[in-house]
Amino acid sequence: MKGIILHGGHGTRLRPLTHTGPKQLLPIANKPMSQYALEDFREAGITDVGIIIGDVYPEKVKEYYGNGENFGVKITYIYQDKPKGISHAIKLCKDFVGDEKFIVYLGDNILRKGLIDYKNKFEEKNTDAMILLCKVDRPSSFGIAELDLESNTIKKIIEKPKEPKSDLAVIGVYFLTSKIFEIIDRLKPSARGELEITEALQLLMDEDGSLHYDTVTGWWKDTGTPEDILHANKLVLDSIGKENQFVIDNDATIKNNIVIGKGTDISSDSTIEGPVIIGANCKVGSNVKLGPNVSVGNDSTLENCKIENSILMKNCKISANVYLSNSIIANGSQIEANNEQTKHELLLGERSQLKI
Ligand code: DAU
Repeated sequence: MKGIILHGGHGTRLRPLTHTGPKQLLPIANKPMSQYALEDFREAGITDVGIIIGDVYPEKVKEYYGNGENFGVKITYIYQDKPKGISHAIKLCKDFVGDEKFIVYLGDNILRKGLIDYKNKFEEKNTDAMILLCKVDRPSSFGIAELDLESNTIKKIIEKPKEPKSDLAVIGVYFLTSKIFEIIDRLKPSARGELEITEALQLLMDEDGSLHYDTVTGWWKDTGTPEDILHANKLVLDSIGKENQFVIDNDATIKNNIVIGKGTDISSDSTIEGPVIIGANCKVGSNVKLGPNVSVGNDSTLENCKIENSILMKNCKISANVYLSNSIIANGSQIEANNEQTKHELLLGERSQLKI
């Protein structure tokens, strides 16, 4: 079985973070979000992976993943000139996939439980496609499936319905066979100008193809907005196990689980309330209050500040009096405050400099 990760698209809802790279490389708990998909594939024994790269800094994706060797997989890159839709991206993979069954994983989706059970189910079943459904609060933001509860089958699939008749989202992990290619060939662009995966699945059903579903246990997250990214960060940090508990032999106050990278210094008068992850070679200086739900990237320096529910990427410098909550601060940014600590919620692109 082969795997495909969608790494294209424009990530407009995440600007300015996506002005300097594709959204799927934004870190969740210090790891690019698409790496969760890649690791799910590897853990499920799928090591032949195609990555669709688009027109937003595709070279950064290649630079990070290379040929896949460091991640235990073999990667083939497939270019998509413009984000013309998920089905369009899938169509580009026809030669890569050949006649094998395959799984398409949207690079901005994170599935807590991984793929193993679902992949096994799909392997055993003689079906043209399989999808995963998950209950959501805002069904009009997703592809939605209506079920026939008597026969336990899917009745209808609609992309972002204005008046949803169900709250079951079709998540961005699709189990497909080569049958989907001839279906996609006959699709027309939707109102938003894309070849939709949901329309391909509907057409498959209309033409008596078989479509099975399973429901997601554990959590699933689509990280389309800054709020989603912070929520995903919290969810992933929540699952930091006790085995990762780091013992610091000085007087810093540590509560709950934290993970700390090599060469990171924690000052004795700082307080860290997990879950928190701090990368390598960071300096957590005096009078820092960190957590809960904070990720700090490598080579960052924090002094006399308070940070909760936030993501700081690599090489950030946060100094005196800064109080951040629900913030995402991209690589190489510096923040300094001159006044008393007041709470700020910030979304800063790379190398921002802020004096507040
Ligand atoms: O997350 C689940 C949802 O994903 C589904 O419920 C929807 O049915 C499905 O259409 C999709 O909706 P989104 O509006 O969230 O899709 P988005 O445009 O954000 O694209 C999803 C991912 O695929 C994202 O990582 C970018 C990538 N992509 C997208 C398009 C349109 C590509 O690589 N190429 C593309 O042409």
